[in-house]
Amino acid sequence: MLPEPEADALAASAMLLERIRAELQAGGNWIGFPRYMELALYEPGLGYYAGGSAKLGPPGDFATAPELGTLFGRTLARQAVELLQPGEAILEFGAGSGALAKALIEELAPERYLILETSAELRARQQARLGTRAQWIDRLPERFRGVMLANEVADAMPVHALAWRGNGIMERGVSEVGGKLSWAERPASGESQAAARRIEVPVPYESEIGLVGRAWMKLLAARLERGALLAIDYGFPQREYYHPQRTMGTLMCHYRHRAHGDVFFHPGLQDITAHVDFSALAQEAREGGLEVLGYANQAQFLVNCGITEVLEREDASDAARYAPRASEAQKLLSPAEMGELFKVLAVGRGVSRPLLGFASGDRSHTL
Ligand SMILES: C[S@@+](CC[C@H](N)C(=O)[O-])C[C@H]1O[C@@H](n2cnc3c(N)ncnc32)[C@H](O)[C@@H]1O
Repeated sequence: MLPEPEADALAASAMLLERIRAELQAGGNWIGFPRYMELALYEPGLGYYAGGSAKLGPPGDFATAPELGTLFGRTLARQAVELLQPGEAILEFGAGSGALAKALIEELAPERYLILETSAELRARQQARLGTRAQWIDRLPERFRGVMLANEVADAMPVHALAWRGNGIMERGVSEVGGKLSWAERPASGESQAAARRIEVPVPYESEIGLVGRAWMKLLAARLERGALLAIDYGFPQREYYHPQRTMGTLMCHYRHRAHGDVFFHPGLQDITAHVDFSALAQEAREGGLEVLGYANQAQFLVNCGITEVLEREDASDAARYAPRASEAQKLLSPAEMGELFKVLAVGRGVSRPLLGFASGDRSHTL
């Protein structure tokens, strides 16, 4: 059983539900899943990322690597410094609470730290935390030189939900039945149908296709004049993503540190995510003229970047300070936690290889 939300949270969710109902009515009692996910996560003032809930860290719904402490940021800084050239900037997408930005700014003191954040509520939190040390931008610059970072951003982008059935490929959307939101299928068409046709899976099969994530990669490939993007997230190469046994897809919801599969649980109060298809992102980057610079799991990447040396800088005789750092390293590296499921994909232009983070264990060939 999931914990029951507070009364004010329930009231906000009820308001969002009204907006969803209005769209359902306008659409003949059907909206596509990407639109539902967009409303549930980003509807101004009411969506999960756009509303007032805590979201990240212990009082919220999930913990990301930068929320565990500064070890992740200080280790990532070693890769960023190798990539940055004089006069260039760091651009972080979706900076959450601003924890990674704070760690990187303190470690590297970059000339410019830009943040592109779609949630006004999170942007205000970041501004309170970072003040004038960062600059917020509303859209991607026409031309960018430097390092782009996206930690757990691609998994938060709306996805298409598809079903491969005996009678063809269906798009899974949302309807209201008996006063409750539920899944409803229609024959797929257009871009999602074309993308689904290129994927070979046994029938019946359900999964997601991240067309919004691909469009994001296409745009940034066009704008990245020199430098690299490091995208860190949970996900797989295509062959594993659409594995014959993964018949129920990768959609996952987070509420108060519990993961579950009910995407209709109090819209606006919980996170909804899908795993990232790193092959699709890499392909989009290549088509946009970028080179794949490396792909490794998070543990391999952090070890290559020297996480153990960063940890050794801590005074091991001071147990009160050292124990939390050691436990942070364990969470970042352990295959049972974030070490194996999380991957780092680096794509870029005008950058010489190999990069520090992929010096050993680069698995780009699996993409
Ligand atoms: C799961 S949170 C991760 C936050 C932070 N990066 C961290 O690791 O703690 C996802 C973040 O991405 C933002 N976001 C989602 N789509 C985005 C987009 N297209 N561009 C920029 N930020 C986006 C959300 O508002 C939120 O800040």
